[in-house]
Order: sequence, then C-alpha cells, then structure tokens
Amino acid sequence: MGHSLLICAQPRCSCLLFAAFLILCFGAVVSATNDTDRPALLAFKAEIAGDPLGLLHSWNDTTDFCRWCGVTFSGRHHRVTVLDLNSQGLLGPISPHIGNLSFLRSLWLQNNSFGPEIPAQIGQRRRLQFLDISNNSLTGEIPRNISGCSNLVYFMLRFNQLVGGIPVELGSLSNLQTVSLSENHLLTGGIPSSISNLSSLLTMFSSVNALSGIIPQSLGRLTKLERLSLGDNRLSGTIPPSFFNLSSLSILHVIMTQIHGNLPEDIGFTLPNLQDLSIYDNHFTGSIPSSISNATNLRSLQLGANELSGKVPLLANLRRLGRVALETNHLGSGGSDADGLSFLCSLTNAANLTLLATQKNRFGATLPVCIGNFSATFTTLTADGNLISGEIPREIGNLVNLQTLRMEDNFLSGPIPSDLGNLQNLAELILSGNNLSGIIPSSLQNLHRLLILNVSRNNFEGPIPLWLDKCQSLTSLDLSSNNFSGPVILPMAGSLL
Ligand SMILES: *[C@@H]1O[C@H](CO)[C@@H](O)[C@H](O)[C@H]1NC(C)=O
Ligand SMILES: *[C@@H]1O[C@H](CO)[C@@H](O)[C@H](O)[C@H]1NC(C)=O
Ligand SMILES: *[C@@H]1O[C@H](CO)[C@@H](O)[C@H](O)[C@H]1NC(C)=O
Ligand SMILES: *[C@@H]1O[C@H](CO)[C@@H](O)[C@H](O)[C@H]1NC(C)=O
Ligand SMILES: *[C@@H]1O[C@H](CO)[C@@H](O)[C@H](O)[C@H]1NC(C)=O
Ligand SMILES: *[C@@H]1O[C@H](CO)[C@@H](O)[C@H](O)[C@H]1NC(C)=O
Ligand SMILES: *[C@@H]1O[C@H](CO)[C@@H](O)[C@H](O)[C@H]1NC(C)=O
Ligand SMILES: *[C@@H]1O[C@H](CO)[C@@H](O)[C@H](O)[C@H]1NC(C)=O
Ligand SMILES: *[C@@H]1O[C@H](CO)[C@@H](O)[C@H](O)[C@H]1NC(C)=O
Ligand SMILES: *[C@@H]1O[C@H](CO)[C@@H](O)[C@H](O)[C@H]1NC(C)=O
Ligand SMILES: *[C@@H]1O[C@H](CO)[C@@H](O)[C@H](O)[C@H]1NC(C)=O
Ligand SMILES: *[C@@H]1O[C@H](CO)[C@@H](O)[C@H](O)[C@H]1NC(C)=O
Repeated sequence: MGHSLLICAQPRCSCLLFAAFLILCFGAVVSATNDTDRPALLAFKAEIAGDPLGLLHSWNDTTDFCRWCGVTFSGRHHRVTVLDLNSQGLLGPISPHIGNLSFLRSLWLQNNSFGPEIPAQIGQRRRLQFLDISNNSLTGEIPRNISGCSNLVYFMLRFNQLVGGIPVELGSLSNLQTVSLSENHLLTGGIPSSISNLSSLLTMFSSVNALSGIIPQSLGRLTKLERLSLGDNRLSGTIPPSFFNLSSLSILHVIMTQIHGNLPEDIGFTLPNLQDLSIYDNHFTGSIPSSISNATNLRSLQLGANELSGKVPLLANLRRLGRVALETNHLGSGGSDADGLSFLCSLTNAANLTLLATQKNRFGATLPVCIGNFSATFTTLTADGNLISGEIPREIGNLVNLQTLRMEDNFLSGPIPSDLGNLQNLAELILSGNNLSGIIPSSLQNLHRLLILNVSRNNFEGPIPLWLDKCQSLTSLDLSSNNFSGPVILPMAGSLL
C-alpha cells in the first residue's frame, strides 16, 4: 500500500488536515517525482476559465507536485489516485487530458460549473471507482465509452442538463453499486434492460427526467437493490411483479409517472425492509393490501393521487410511520361506511407521526376520538372532500403541535370544540362547507399563529367574533354564508376578505 497525500497551501482546503503527512511527501520528492501525471494536470488547469477560490494556484512549477491542492498520490511511482476538486466554483471543461491520469481511482468534481460535456476519454480510466460529477453544467450525452471504467462503483451525474438516453453500456459496469442520474430533466428514451446485469447495484436514482417506456421486467434480477427512484418521468406500464421479490428494497419511489396496476397482496411479506413506499400520482388501482402492516420498517407511505379503493387496513404494527398520505383516491365506502376511518386509531402507535392526508376520498362515518391520542409530533391533518359526518372530536385539542387542520366539504355537524383553542401552533383551520353550528368559540383567540381561518358555508350563528382582530397573524379570513349577526366590519377585515 502506498501512502496517500492531499496537501495544499490554500487555507480553505480541507486537505490541510493531512498536513501531518507532509514529511512523507518530502520523502517522496527526494526519491522520485513521477512526471507522468503532471502535464495532464497542468493541461487540465490551463482549460479552467474560473477558479474563484484559487484552488489551482498551487498547481504551478514552483510548488512541489506533491503539494498540489486537491491531488492525492499513491504507490511507488507517486501517481495521482484521487482528484478532489468538489465545491470550488470551478468553471470550464473537464479536460480530456483527465484520461491520461492512468492510476486515478476517485474523481470528485461535484458542485462546480464544469461543462459542457463529459469527455469520452473518461472511459480510458479502467481503475476509476468513484466518479462524482453531479451538480455541474454538463449538457450533451453520457459517453458510451463509460463502459471502459469497468471498476466503477459509484457514479453520480444528478443535477446536470444531460440529454440523450441512458447508454446501454452502463449495464457493463459490473461493479457498480450506486448510480444517480436524477434531475437532468432531459434524459430520454427507455431504461435499458442491460441495467439488469448490474448484479452489485444497491442504489439507482433516475427521477426528474423524461424517461419513457416501461420498467424492464429483467430489473427484478437486481437482488441486492435497496433504493430505487424512478419518479417524475414518463414511464408507463406496471411495476414488474419481480420487483416485489426484491427483499432488500427499502426505498421504492415511483411517483408522478403513468404506472398502473395493483399492489400485490403479499407486499408486506415480500418487502420486509421497506421504509419508504411512494407511488403517488400514478394510476394504481385495487385496494391497499393488509399485509402492508407487516412491513414494520415503513416510515413513509405515500399512495396519493391514484385510483385506489376499498378499506384502509389497520396499520398498528407500523410504529415507525411518519407520513401517511392517501389523498385523492377512492378509499372508503361512502356515507354508510361505519368503520371506514377505524384505521386512524391504529396510527396511535406511531410515535413519530407527523402527517395524515386523507382528503378527497370516500371516507364516511365519524372521526374517532382516538385522533387525540396521535403522537405529539403530529402536525398535519387533511380530511377535506370526504363524506365524514358527526362532530369534530374535542380530543383534537390534545394535538399541541398541529399546524394544519383541514376538514372542509364534509358533513360535519355540531359546534367547533373550544379545545381547539389549545392548538398554539395552528396556522391553518379550514372547516368550510359543512353543517357546523353554534358560535365560534372565543378560545380561538389564543391561536396566535393562525394564518388562515375559513368557516364559510356552515350554520354558525351569534355575533361576528370581534376578538378576531386579536389574531394578528391572520392573512385570510372567510366567515361567509353563515347566520352571523351584528357588525360585519372588522378592523382589519378590508385586507382580509
Ligand atoms: C494525454 O494523452 C494523449 C494521448 O494518449 C496525448 O496526445 C496527450 O498529449 C496527453 N496529454 C498530456 C498533457 O500529456
Ligand atoms: C505557486 O503556488 C504557491 C502555493 O500555492 C503560491 O504561493 C505561489 O504564488 C504560486 N506561484 C505562482 C507563480 O503562481
Ligand atoms: C512513473 O510511473 C510510470 C508508470 O507507473 C513508471 O513506469 C515510471 O518508472 C515512473 N517514473 C518514476 C521516475 O518514478
Ligand atoms: C455542494 O455545495 C453546497 C454549498 O455550496 C454544500 O452545502 C453541499 O453539501 C455540497 N454538496 C455536495 C454533494 O458536495
Ligand atoms: C450545487 O452547487 C452550488 C454551488 O456550485 C450550490 O450552491 C448548490 O447548493 C448545489 N446544489 C446541490 C443540490 O448540491
Ligand atoms: C471511445 O471508445 C472507442 C471504442 O472503445 C475507442 O475507439 C475510442 O478511442 C474511445 N474514445 C476516447 C476519446 O477515448
Ligand atoms: C448481460 O450480460 C451478459 C453476459 O455478459 C450478456 O450476454 C447479455 O447480453 C447482457 N444482458 C443485457 C440485457 O445487456
Ligand atoms: C418471487 O419469489 C418466489 C419465491 O422465491 C417465486 O416463487 C416467484 O416466482 C417470484 N415471483 C416473481 C414474479 O419473480
Ligand atoms: C402480519 O401482521 C399481522 C397483524 O397485522 C399479524 O397478525 C401477523 O402475524 C403478521 N405476519 C407475519 C408473518 O409477521
Ligand atoms: C422516532 O424518531 C427518532 C428520531 O429520528 C428516532 O430516534 C426513533 O427511533 C423514532 N421512533 C420510531 C418508533 O421510529
Ligand atoms: C388515549 O390514550 C389514553 C392514555 O393512554 C387511554 O386511556 C385512552 O383510552 C386512549 N383513547 C383512545 C380513544 O384510544
Ligand atoms: C345540519 O345540522 C342540523 C343540526 O344542527 C340538522 O338539524 C340538519 O339536519 C343538518 N343538515 C344536514 C344537511 O345534515
């Protein structure tokens, strides 16, 4: 094993931490300075048009090659093995001369303004294991010659403006464990089935692109896969059944694309490590399988904006749940649905629950009082646009961190419980379009953070609550279509209504 050095004169450079190795470097200089890589680095520097932090100042003839900032050497011949120039504001091309650094193992160029292209010469670097060129100004295509980097383990390309397709050749990088192509916006074409040959693959992210076609069935061969994100593309078809056999999967994000099909009945058994299941904004149909409650590692369950129907299973085993988003589906069975919301009580075990979105479904029945037993971490309850009847449980007043409470356009009746005045963090209270009655409880004047109050289209009566002018933070107030009496002009009403 050779020693590895990263020394530089720039005070900003983290490599100063390695100053302790300085002495080793001097030793190296005395014995032999390998000149093979030096011209390539100088050629790289010569093409850089902007170096606002002066990182490359040290790359000059008067500075010992060993002390060039961002460069690490190894081996008997002191060849460049690591080039770490991340987050330096560097502007200019990635010089093709980079292809001459034949011992390069790691190339960290992320968070700069490199562009416009990825040089095909990168493919000459057979030893390269880590390549991060994310968050630059790269346009053009992913070079097919990338197949030459046969030892690549980690390949980050996200946050660029790359175009063209995912090259079939990517599938020949048999050591690849992590690849992210996300947020290039313009990557088109299909997901090549050659990817299924990447038997070491743990992570593949390719969201926010313009990929089309289907998810190849053969990707189900990636038995080590832990994280897959293909959201916000133009993919269609189904999630191949073989995917639900990838028992290592912990993150499955297939959002905002055009996938259809059912979630398999046994998903909770076949994907026991699932932490984050996000399939919102697709065309999934069928019901939510009850086995989902066996996926006890789930933290985030986002199934919104699909065509799911039926009863929501009990989720009592899912103690790690933080977000449950079921909005805009056909869940519940309407007004006759006596226990359609009983799954809510199963969420009282989830100690980190923050969000429950159930709006725009067919949930009927009444809101169970167990809502008051949700975790203190709970901030957001949206249940608007359902068929919920009965009264608002006063126990909601226990949820002291609640910020958003939306229950408009249901069939709620009875009064607003005065306990809601305990919700010191409430910013949004929307109860419009129900059959609520009585007076607006004066306890609501304690809601100092309230921004939006909408109680329109109900049967409230009594005087207009004049204390509302104490709610200094209110930016939107709607009291219309009720039976209020008395003065209608509030001090600040002009700016609100
Ligand atoms: C890099 O290698 C190419 C061909 O192998 C050669 O033409 C070029 O001069 C080299 N660049 C440097 C800076 O040595
Ligand atoms: C060479 O680099 C050293 C160290 O960063 C710097 O002090 C010196 O001014 C540089 N020389 C030239 C000619 O840029
Ligand atoms: C430089 O590295 C090359 C390739 O590893 C090697 O053949 C050559 O002997 C080295 N030169 C010196 C001076 O160490
Ligand atoms: C990119 O730079 C920003 C600050 O400029 C930093 O917060 C972030 O961690 C960097 N990201 C990477 C991947 O290095
Ligand atoms: C991208 O890099 C810029 C600096 O070049 C930084 O400010 C920004 O935070 C980075 N974005 C990401 C997502 O890392
Ligand atoms: C790209 O790969 C092809 C075939 O493997 C090769 O002929 C060509 O020289 C490579 N291009 C560069 C710039 O390395
Ligand atoms: C996977 O690799 C094998 C062997 O290298 C090859 O024959 C096959 O064509 C590859 N499959 C795909 C889909 O590229
Ligand atoms: C999933 O795995 C089971 C058991 O290993 C197997 O019987 C079944 O055919 C597999 N299903 C798919 C779609 O690959
Ligand atoms: C699945 O969860 C249910 C309760 O939700 C439980 O009764 C059952 O034993 C679990 N099955 C397995 C295999 O863990
Ligand atoms: C809740 O979140 C905290 C902090 O992230 C974590 O330590 C704890 O394990 C979580 N609890 C559960 C039940 O997941
Ligand atoms: C809420 O929790 C309290 C204390 O843990 C318990 O006594 C009560 O039965 C629970 N209420 C509901 C409706 O689950
Ligand atoms: C509205 O509530 C009143 C009682 O406050 C009840 O008499 C009436 O039937 C309800 N209307 C509807 C449409 O539910």
